[in-house]
Amino acid sequence: MTLPADRPLRSFGRIKGRPLKPSQARALADVGPRVALDLSTGAIDPAAVLDGRPLALEIGFGGGEHLVAQAGRRPDLGVIGVEPFLNGFSACLRDVEAEGLTNVRLHQGDARDVLAALPAASLERVWILFPDPWPKTRHHKRRIVQAAFIDELARVLKPGGEVRFATDWRDYAAWTLRLFLAAPDFRWPAETAADWRAPWPDHVPTRYQAKALGDTAPIFLRFVRI
Ligand SMILES: C[S@@+](CC[C@H](N)C(=O)[O-])C[C@H]1O[C@@H](n2cnc3c(N)ncnc32)[C@H](O)[C@@H]1O
Repeated sequence: MTLPADRPLRSFGRIKGRPLKPSQARALADVGPRVALDLSTGAIDPAAVLDGRPLALEIGFGGGEHLVAQAGRRPDLGVIGVEPFLNGFSACLRDVEAEGLTNVRLHQGDARDVLAALPAASLERVWILFPDPWPKTRHHKRRIVQAAFIDELARVLKPGGEVRFATDWRDYAAWTLRLFLAAPDFRWPAETAADWRAPWPDHVPTRYQAKALGDTAPIFLRFVRI
């Protein structure tokens, strides 16, 4: 099979791992259809998703612990989550149900498909937390953060909206900072080292953050859409 030439490289590894736990399989069948983000028309109507709430997007939510906590804290916010890995996706569905959350929509797949379906200026916030680091130089092109991806983020964010990016890989932090500083539609409001060493006040630590697999303490980068 050949992929279309403009299809971005895969930024994720396996999409299936261990067999699903019964609770995950049940959530997938029972909760999945209700919580699924509708991409069938190829265009997302923000006024129709989650009753017109302001929208935030988490890209690569893993097991969804951060997403579920944020959505629980902010029932006024609509939280869209995208994750290709089926086990994490199903675990998140299970927790969305267990917490009784009604302000979440999830898509199992590539976040770039969701970005492409969103109209301009439709999001308040995007979280990208501990994305796959692809540390080898020959794999850097697989990193989700690329110049074209940043252009897409600029398109879908409202003025004043924020991208919140965290990594514990020094080179990925430098890579991301360099690309955002070159992007005319974003500013980086950091003034002191504490602004990137300390998590944002409302941050919820993630599972990958706890694993501390990187080569540095976590670095927290916040970029504001101009
Ligand atoms: C290292 S894990 C971090 C998970 C979670 N954010 C955390 O901090 O625990 C990166 C996640 O990003 C997901 N991912 C990679 N490429 C993606 C893409 N194009 N769209 C959405 N998610 C993606 C992977 O499947 C993986 O679960």
